[in-house]
Amino acid sequence: MSGRYGLGFYSLVAGFGCITLAAFTQGILPMLEPQSRTNKVTKVVRTDLGELKWMEHTATDYTPLEAQGRAVYIREGCWYCHSQYVRPVTGETRRWGPVTQAGEYAYDMPHLFSTRRIGPDLSRVGLKYSDAWHYAHFWNPRWLSPDSIMPRFAALFERPVVVKIVDDGKGGRTLEKNAATEKLFEFSGRPLALTPNSDGLLFVPERGRAPLIVTPNKEFEGDTVRLVAASDDLKALVAYVQKLGTNRGKWRDRFEPQQMEATQVGLPRSEEWVGYGKQVYERRCLGCHGASGNGNGPAAAFIQTDRPRNFNLGVFKFRLTPSGSLPDDGDLVRTITRGVRGTAMPTWHELPQKDVLAVIQYIKYELAADRSDPKKPYLYFVEEPLKAPLYVGDAPKPSPQLITRGAEVWQSAKCWECHGKEGRGDGEKAAGLKDDIGFPIPPANLTTGQFKSGANVKDIFRTMSTGLSGTPMPSFSDTVSADDRWALAYYVLSLSAFKDPLTGEPMKISAADRAALNDPALAASESRLAYRTQDTDSPTIFAGEAWARKHGFDFAARRAALNGAAR
Ligand code: HEC
Ligand code: HEC
Ligand code: HEC
Repeated sequence: MSGRYGLGFYSLVAGFGCITLAAFTQGILPMLEPQSRTNKVTKVVRTDLGELKWMEHTATDYTPLEAQGRAVYIREGCWYCHSQYVRPVTGETRRWGPVTQAGEYAYDMPHLFSTRRIGPDLSRVGLKYSDAWHYAHFWNPRWLSPDSIMPRFAALFERPVVVKIVDDGKGGRTLEKNAATEKLFEFSGRPLALTPNSDGLLFVPERGRAPLIVTPNKEFEGDTVRLVAASDDLKALVAYVQKLGTNRGKWRDRFEPQQMEATQVGLPRSEEWVGYGKQVYERRCLGCHGASGNGNGPAAAFIQTDRPRNFNLGVFKFRLTPSGSLPDDGDLVRTITRGVRGTAMPTWHELPQKDVLAVIQYIKYELAADRSDPKKPYLYFVEEPLKAPLYVGDAPKPSPQLITRGAEVWQSAKCWECHGKEGRGDGEKAAGLKDDIGFPIPPANLTTGQFKSGANVKDIFRTMSTGLSGTPMPSFSDTVSADDRWALAYYVLSLSAFKDPLTGEPMKISAADRAALNDPALAASESRLAYRTQDTDSPTIFAGEAWARKHGFDFAARRAALNGAAR
């Protein structure tokens, strides 16, 4: 080593230099850049006429529970494998949703961008799945995605205990009272229907109720179950994960894959396709729907409400075909591609079309069968002729008159008997409603805007026209005219106007902005065309805008021009 200073000295200078540089770029620069402090974002809102529009609004902070979940996320090192940003490149928007904006990180200190994507990006995962899906996935990711390398987070559950099933003295079955079960259940409380999976695993989704063991399809006949429950940390983690991306409002209702319409395609039966469909089913669907299609796969232990469909019964909810008949392939393509929102049934828009068509063949020609007489299985899709789907024309344009008419039809058609006066799902007939196989099924809370079979006005029209087979939700084709059904469909959508998609709480918005957004002439059909709120006392700086201005681009003028063109 030549020179006056030794290696140690140079290392020290280099180390100090790097740390200073890091502190400058990560700490000081962000403070100098005003856009790093904005909490403005663009989000999709539902208007009073039931339309979806982009508007500029603010992101909201984490609740204490969500903040606790964030701490668990950091502690468990989820960020080693998951990023939290959507870039405008390589189809990320098609996979995950709208491009990230600076305002989304307003409450993220430190941010959790992360650098590697060993698992998918999580910044848009909120409300993609139900809580139940997440519990099942944390318990064992392989049940939902056989080649997943995500570790199990079983340690976040309370240790499983083995408990006996006993007679409750009223003709039902309950769990033995002991120290462990008394911590989870209130034996004299409201009953909670619980179904163990075929291995006897049983997840407790809600504490403080009376356990009632229900196995309508004889899914499980053992006399002990293994009980698991979520720890407080796990509940917080799920709350945090559900919050991610919801600052962007109802963007998912505008998400292209959720818009896909039923193509009235039909593939004739083919043993080769059925064979391939079996492979797809075993990889993607078995975890919930079960090996025999009875709706009680291993992960079903975690899905105690909105249970996975039992395909053996040949009853399907979401169809354009008449009430009581089987769905056509187009119906099944639509349901599988979009998923069933608000339930554990995922959206499969990333699955190749070929796989979707094949798995439909397998469901139709293998699983949808009554095999009570093993020698003569009854295949519903072979025995029962397909009925023509309903023809749905173009929806009328929304207008205040249409909404008023819809409200009248809501009264006269007695939707409120089940859905409640304000559509909260709390009507006088709501309690005690059961589906065809005996599971409790509350009427949809229409104010949350989470529709199982799609949030387009045509989807709501379809639901009212053909009903949801197997549930108490009837078909209104014969009693309500098509014009009135359109009015009603818009009215139903208007029930979730200007509500936060996660909490259902009304958004804070001025009357003037509300009126401007309600104007059907305003399109605001994309994030970059978002409606700008009229309070001008605090001009918003957008991500990239400060930079753009410095470089001579005028976004505001461009947006005004485009908004004009969109009118
Ligand atoms: C070793 C890497 C790794 C770690 C650590 C990890 N994951 Fe994952 N995660 C994955 C992979 C791979 C997938 C995709 C396959 C699957 O769904 O299991 C995934 C999927 C997910 C999904 C579903 C995303 C979607 O859009 O389908 C969620 C949610 C998730 N992980 C949450 C978490 C949370 C929360 C933690 C921390 C408690 C965590 N992960 C830790 C690798 C990881
Ligand atoms: C994580 C659990 C889960 C997985 C995995 C899953 N499903 Fe489902 N599926 C459900 C649930 C839950 C429902 C019932 C939703 C409801 O109506 O409340 C359902 C319902 C359905 C329905 C019934 C739709 C109707 O009209 O009644 C079909 C068809 C379906 N799933 C197909 C599939 C296919 C095909 C796959 C695999 C590619 C799959 N599911 C994977 C949970 C799952
Ligand atoms: C007898 C009770 C009953 C009546 C009357 C009734 N519904 Fe329903 N409705 C239900 C139930 C139960 C569900 C939930 C089904 C499910 O979760 O699978 C439902 C679900 C819905 C959904 C949600 C569909 C989705 O995709 O999630 C809409 C929309 C709806 N009903 C509209 C109406 C309208 C409009 C009327 C009046 C014309 C009406 N319902 C009358 C019981 C009823």
